This record gives sequence, C-alpha cells and structure tokens, in this order.
Amino acid sequence: MVTTAPANRRARQAIRDTWGGEVEVRGLRVMTLFMVGVTSDPGLGKLLIEEARERGDLIQGRFLDTYSNLTLKTLAMLGWARKFCPQAHFMAKVDDDVLFNPRALLHFLNKSRNPYEQGDLYLGRVHLHVAPDRDPDSKHYLPSGAYPSSVFPDYCSGTAYILSRSALLKISLAASASPLSTPLPPEDVFVGLCARAAGVPPEHCPLFSGGPYVPYGRCCYQAMVSIHHISPREMLQYWQDVHAPPPCSWLSQRASLGVCKVRAMLGTVLG
Ligand SMILES: *[C@@H]1O[C@H](CO)[C@@H](O)[C@H](O)[C@H]1NC(C)=O
Ligand SMILES: *[C@@H]1O[C@H](CO)[C@@H](O)[C@H](O)[C@H]1NC(C)=O
Repeated sequence: MVTTAPANRRARQAIRDTWGGEVEVRGLRVMTLFMVGVTSDPGLGKLLIEEARERGDLIQGRFLDTYSNLTLKTLAMLGWARKFCPQAHFMAKVDDDVLFNPRALLHFLNKSRNPYEQGDLYLGRVHLHVAPDRDPDSKHYLPSGAYPSSVFPDYCSGTAYILSRSALLKISLAASASPLSTPLPPEDVFVGLCARAAGVPPEHCPLFSGGPYVPYGRCCYQAMVSIHHISPREMLQYWQDVHAPPPCSWLSQRASLGVCKVRAMLGTVLG
C-alpha cells in the first residue's frame, strides 16, 4: 500500500513501472495499491478519477488530502486492508518516494521466519526513545494536551514498514478503539502507539533505510528492502540498473551494503 498525494502522478507511474509492477516474486503473489485522500482542486479530482478508471489501483479515503491528515490516511489504509485483503500474509506501507524491493523483503522474511507462520510482525527501521515535538512552529507540533508523556513508544519509521496479517488486525482494531486527539500524532508514531496498545512490539531491520539518504550502489540497492528520498526519474534509472546483469554475488552484496551504510552515515554527518 503506497501512501501518495493526489498530485503525485509521476511518482505513482514510476512505481508502477518499477517495483509496483511486480505481480509474482519468488513464486508468491504481490500487489501494489495507492492510497489517496480527497483533493479540493476539482481539476485534479477529475484527473484522479480518470487515473483510477484507467489503472484500477487507486483507493480514495473520505478525508481531505493534506499533510496534517496523513494519520487519517493510515487509518483508512489499515481499515481497508483489514476488510479487503483477508488472504494477504503481509502488508507493506510505503511512501511514494521510496524505492521498495519486494524480492529483498521476501528473502529476508523467508530467512528469518517461516513465511506462513501466523505470528505478529511489525517490521522496519525502529526509532528509539523519540520525544514529542513541543515547538509550536514545527509541522509535527504536538502539545502536551494531545500527548502528555515525554517520550513515544518505539515505532517503525513511516517511510516503509511491514505488518503481518495478525499484527494488522490487532493494530487496526486498537486504532479504531483509540480516541483521536487533536492534533493527531504523526502517522508512524500513531501506528507505534496502537501497536503498543495491541501488544505488538516493533522489530528492527537494517535493510530499511528510514530517513537518511543511501547513496546509490548497485549491489547495495539490490540487497536493501527500502530506500527513501528517491525521485521518479532516479527510481526508473536505479531499478533498471539494479536488475541489469550480472547479478551481484552474496559477497559483493554484503561488502557493498557495508560501504553504502558508511557513506550514508558520512552523508548524514557531513550534512
Ligand atoms: C524459502 O527458503 C527455502 C529454503 O531456503 C527455499 O526453498 C524457498 O524457495 C524460499 N521461498 C521463498 C518464497 O523465497
Ligand atoms: C482533514 O480531513 C477532514 C475531513 O475531510 C477535514 O475536515 C479537515 O479539514 C482536514 N484537516 C486538515 C488539517 O486538512
């Protein structure tokens, strides 16, 4: 499930032309759908209806599509997936500027657990001990009236995270039971709060980039599950290059993963 804004047509098309176009990976069925809200621009609304008719992969929630309503988008997405995807073993929530890699994810899941096991899984890049933003000028401002505690429960970065079917059910039920504060916490924090209420702990996986940019490296991108801050043009270009022969060996993937992690860390340090 890709959360996307009505105007981000190019990002959606780049995803359809790359990882979102995959229908079978390692013998398993995968499907990509886009979650949008309602736009106040009638011209854009018309384009969206056309796109939906043409592609059949858009889901529209009943809320105004704005940055501060992203948590409502996640709520709508969880409810929709709970209702309409009863056969899905896993759901990935992915932002539309993320290069996602279903193959690497299924490889990781297959290595780390029995894929058909009915356990709870809430997997991604885990943010630890994050404090609420109390700066009234920030777009993530959360007054203590809306969230009194001084720290959030640990949660997976909202850029990309995975929920198993049972975790999706529990978190989505906790979400519909929880009173909605105004303003709502950011969507990934909100999912973390619901997961805590549901007794589902977040699990960390280093193959999710989370916030920091990971400089391009062919073998590294082949191994990573999600990479953030990718423009539509880069997505097309990287996807093609990553899938061009020759395949990376296990060793060169490991080595390149180390190198690109270090480069990403240096990039963050150097600003
Ligand atoms: C999972 O791993 C097993 C054993 O290594 C392999 O036979 C199977 O094809 C893998 N399945 C997927 C979906 O990758
Ligand atoms: C969020 O969506 C609701 C329902 O459409 C709307 O009334 C509200 O104005 C939106 N909030 C913001 C901050 O855009």
